[in-house]
This record gives sequence, C-alpha cells and structure tokens, in this order.
Amino acid sequence: MTPFTALSCAGPQSALAPAGRDAASIHELTLWMGFGSLILWAIVLGLMARAFWPAPAHPPRVENALVLVGGVAVPVVLLTTLLIVGLPRLPRMLDPGPPGPVRLSVVGELWWWRVRYETPRGTFELGNELALPVGERVGIALTSPEVIHSLWVPSLAGKMDLVPGRTTALALEPTLAGRYRGACAEFCGGSHTWMDLWVVALPRAEFDAWLAREASPAAAPVGPEAERGSAVFHASGCGGCHTVRGTSAAGTIGPDLTHVGSRQSIGAGRLPNDPDGFRVWLAHTGALKPDVRMPSFDMLSDGDLRALAAYLEGLQ
Ligand code: CUA
Repeated sequence: MTPFTALSCAGPQSALAPAGRDAASIHELTLWMGFGSLILWAIVLGLMARAFWPAPAHPPRVENALVLVGGVAVPVVLLTTLLIVGLPRLPRMLDPGPPGPVRLSVVGELWWWRVRYETPRGTFELGNELALPVGERVGIALTSPEVIHSLWVPSLAGKMDLVPGRTTALALEPTLAGRYRGACAEFCGGSHTWMDLWVVALPRAEFDAWLAREASPAAAPVGPEAERGSAVFHASGCGGCHTVRGTSAAGTIGPDLTHVGSRQSIGAGRLPNDPDGFRVWLAHTGALKPDVRMPSFDMLSDGDLRALAAYLEGLQ
C-alpha cells in the first residue's frame, strides 16, 4: 500500500513501536527504568518475606551498616546512574536540526492542525498532515492563537505544547518510512479528541515529489458531477473560509483544501477520506465534531452534497 491510498482512521500510534530517533531514545530509557524497577520491586518483596522469619540477632554495627548501604548508598548510586543515562538525552532531543531550505510550522487551531511549508518554490498550507524525509532532522515551529494544545506523534518523538503568545519547537527525525498518527495530548475543548495529525515519512526523492505536488495548484474538476460540485462549492460560499489554490476560493479561516482528496482523513481523523465521508461530513459537521466552527451544510440537496463530495474527492 502506498502512503497515500485511502485508509481507515486507525493507524500506527505507539511509543512502544519507535520509528524516530527521539522516540527510540525515550523507549530505551523506559525499558531500562521499567526493568530496573521490576528488579528493585522483587528485592523489596524478598526482604519483606524475610521479615516474617524470626529476626537474627545482629550487633548494632551491622544493623547500622545495613541501613546506610540499603537506605543511602544504593539509592544514591542508582539515581545518579539514572541521571547520567537520562540527562544527556535532553539536549539531543531539543536539537532543532540543521537549518534547511524548507521551513515547517504547525499552528494548533480549533480543532485541527494548520501545517505551513515555506520552500524556495513558494509557501503553501495544508491541514492535519505533513511529510518528512526519512533520516533527516526537521525542526517544526509551533504556535497557537487561542488555547494550549500539545502535539504528540508517539512513534516519532515526545510531546511539545503549543502555547498562545509563544513559539515552541519540536524536531522530528523519522528513521523508518511510513505513516504515523499524532494527536493532541492536552485537553483543549469540545473536539480535543478529533485532532489527529498524520506524519508521512518518505525517502528523499519521494519527499521532493510530494513537496512539488503539494505546492502545485488544484486540478480542474473532471466530469459533470465534479463540475457541478465545483459550482456548488463557490455558490455556497465555501471559499470564504477555505482556499483552493488555482481558483477564486482564498479563505484562510479553515484548512486549505487544494489537495484535500489526497489527505489521510476528513475532519482531522474524524472520517475516512472517501466520497461518503465528505457527504456525511458536510451534512452533519456539528454532530460529528462538537463545537466545530464550520456550519453543517444540511440545507443542500442530496444531489448537491454528492456533487460537492465528488469535487472535493477530485482535489488530489
Ligand atoms: Cu488540541 Cu487538545
């Protein structure tokens, strides 16, 4: 399956299956701490069981030594080792990567992710999805206009908050090609649950092709159904909130829809990306995604909704 075929909304999203350098580092530390705690727990259980036997008589000097070794020396050595192993990982995770020709930023909107690529060939936006080249470290600038979100792609890296009034940074370095699902990890309101961000890691050549395709304007609608859908789109005022590059639609409140037909999902993970998904989304937006700012277009006829869905699906 290629990274861009239609799919269900479920997908790989586990910190226990790392596919990025930072996630691998966190995973390794987690395993050391987990198994270390298990061993300590077993030793403490053993000592507790031993306490049920009649206590042997030790001279006070031996008892004092036991308390000093078990209560002071062992914890100091263990915690110091943990610091020595854990602390050097922090600067490596905060390393934003070398400045490249492509600048990437993500804005946490209510409730979707605005992704912006600034490239030598121009700047473009897309929603709820970004692509990265495998084996390269890419820094992402994070902002939020309204509330605090937290971006987490468990297979690739740790979390980073998006805080109004500040710019934070997260670097991703995928080591395996694939699709990885990210989520918002900080409660941010009515549709916090429906805030997926897909990260597609591609080999360099495929990434360059992806970038060129995403930077290009939308394809013209093909066939009478999609042409009717295009007319419905413009007559219904969709362009007031959405941009479709290459047409008169230039709104910036909602996600850029130039290539929406090729996205991994509809509504930031709410529905699969297919004509039925678009039709259901357009007619029941508010019910599907609580507090969403986009109104439901249930006033449109079923024929108009199908045509609109065909047009949007055709925006590949
Ligand atoms: Cu955005 Cu929770």
